[in-house]
Amino acid sequence: MKWLPTSLEKRLRRVRSRIRRLPLFSTKSRGPFRQDWYADEQLEELTRVCELVRDLAGSVVEIGCWEGKSTIALANACYPETLAAVDHWRGNLEEGQDHESIRVLKETDVFAAFQRNVREMTRQNVRICKTDAFDFLSDFEKPIKFCHIDASHDYRSVRRTIEMLLPRLVPGAILCGDDYLSAHRGREDLEGGVERAVSELLEGHEHVRNFWYWQYTPRGQ
Ligand SMILES: C[S@@+](CC[C@H](N)C(=O)[O-])C[C@H]1O[C@@H](n2cnc3c(N)ncnc32)[C@H](O)[C@@H]1O
Repeated sequence: MKWLPTSLEKRLRRVRSRIRRLPLFSTKSRGPFRQDWYADEQLEELTRVCELVRDLAGSVVEIGCWEGKSTIALANACYPETLAAVDHWRGNLEEGQDHESIRVLKETDVFAAFQRNVREMTRQNVRICKTDAFDFLSDFEKPIKFCHIDASHDYRSVRRTIEMLLPRLVPGAILCGDDYLSAHRGREDLEGGVERAVSELLEGHEHVRNFWYWQYTPRGQ
């Protein structure tokens, strides 16, 4: 980067270091969500891409729900269709036993909070699938038109999730998820995280800040 003027180089370095420090989890409490683990502005992106599949046939799925912040936005965006909400509510085990979510689960009934939030803030179009994501995907036989992926952020589990989803997608389906920047490919603790898995498997994906998305367009279409 020697050719860049020094001031621009400095600014770039500042932006990069800010991105590296973006938290995967903020413990700031907001409204009914004790942990605010999904950015408000990202909910707009999430509902916008969900709108794109409205006219397609297929299931709408979310993997990684926690207290339901993204679940509620999605359920309301896809209504009257049903959203399959998949989580074992055991925390981000793939990221290690000392992960923040596992600590919180020892003190809080997150699943009860999820059920309450979904009951109060949706029109009851959520099918709760309290199970491991990989078991769910092995058993799920219906075609999928939309899946929001927001479970563990390590490279291996995100890659495995995407690999299991791909054969089930209908043409035009959307895959999307959180933490593209915060679980970036430089994160050795996550083996390259979300960014590496998405970049390796989903050619042509895009991201808006921390939110990534990709549309399945079969070759020749
Ligand atoms: C980052 S939180 C989800 C945040 C949520 N989307 C929101 O809007 O607040 C990650 C969730 O993924 C779940 N999870 C992690 N690995 C999983 C797996 N293998 N199967 C099912 N759920 C998993 C955790 O239990 C946790 O609830």
